[in-house]
Amino acid sequence: MLVPLQDESKPWMAKGETQTGDHDRQAKDDPSKAVEWYQPTVKSLPLSTVEFFENYIGVKGENAIKQHIYMIRDMAWEVLPYPCIGLFRFLDFSIHLSPDYPRVVKRVQEGATLLDLGCCFGQDLRKLAYDAGPGSPTCNLIGTDLQPAFLQLGYELFADRDRFEATFVSGDVFAEDFLAEYRGKVDIVYLGSFLHLFSEPQQRVVVRQLRRLLRPRAGSMVFGRNLGAGKGGPFRMESIGWDLHPTRKGGINSGRVDGEHDVKWEVTSSLGRYGSANWDDDRRGWQGDETKQMMFTAIQL
Ligand SMILES: C[S@@+](CC[C@H](N)C(=O)[O-])C[C@H]1O[C@@H](n2cnc3c(N)ncnc32)[C@H](O)[C@@H]1O
Repeated sequence: MLVPLQDESKPWMAKGETQTGDHDRQAKDDPSKAVEWYQPTVKSLPLSTVEFFENYIGVKGENAIKQHIYMIRDMAWEVLPYPCIGLFRFLDFSIHLSPDYPRVVKRVQEGATLLDLGCCFGQDLRKLAYDAGPGSPTCNLIGTDLQPAFLQLGYELFADRDRFEATFVSGDVFAEDFLAEYRGKVDIVYLGSFLHLFSEPQQRVVVRQLRRLLRPRAGSMVFGRNLGAGKGGPFRMESIGWDLHPTRKGGINSGRVDGEHDVKWEVTSSLGRYGSANWDDDRRGWQGDETKQMMFTAIQL
């Protein structure tokens, strides 16, 4: 069931507006933040991130940008304490780390419809719109997430409620009618730190939903990043108490839609170091050495 966003609905603002100042001290006073995957502050932001925030939202100076980010991030932490929120992983703008990013930007400039599934703040859509440049048809960008509050906080983080043309809808990928109005209309799907949240049978359901959404033609594409592991199979991250499910090469084929003829997908993937430009390196230990970052792209042939 899709829930349209209510622009005026900001129940979290009253709380968040009081959160300014010394975030290290505040974190010590809050037991929910006494976990390894909550990093109170970032030491320094990459220059490209500072430039993006300065140009996109108009807040000038690294310090002011950081304070703005801390305030919104802490509101999101209260919604759900995901590591990608606690560790500022959303500041990776991970979509641009894909080797296929340049051609994705070009396709978006040319009018492709792109869906960011599990988009959280919608940071990757903002990055894409920024890189595609003025005049690009950003009305063809769609972001969806289970948590409507993350979508609303995205408008606060990027101060663009009245100007960002992308469509945001909250929805559960496991709902039978998930994004039903977009079936067969999507050219590209981005999955950032999403598939590893689900078991392999659940991943098959997700892939089936993607194949319903994608245009059934050559060039339709799914790409992204998630946790991976050299040894394969699910593994438990003891410190967080989660079972994680790295994706397997070729998984896109296992979500065939009823009545669909055999289609071939070219799948490429790579396994690299799990990390982020925004982390304190001394927090690296929480996820264990076996955790890697997998980048993948699947293109329909
Ligand atoms: C680990 S976060 C990744 C966020 C973002 N894509 C990124 O790369 O930083 C996973 C996101 O998926 C969303 N999510 C979890 N289960 C979902 C579901 N069943 N349907 C849609 N979104 C879901 C969460 O609310 C969260 O925002």
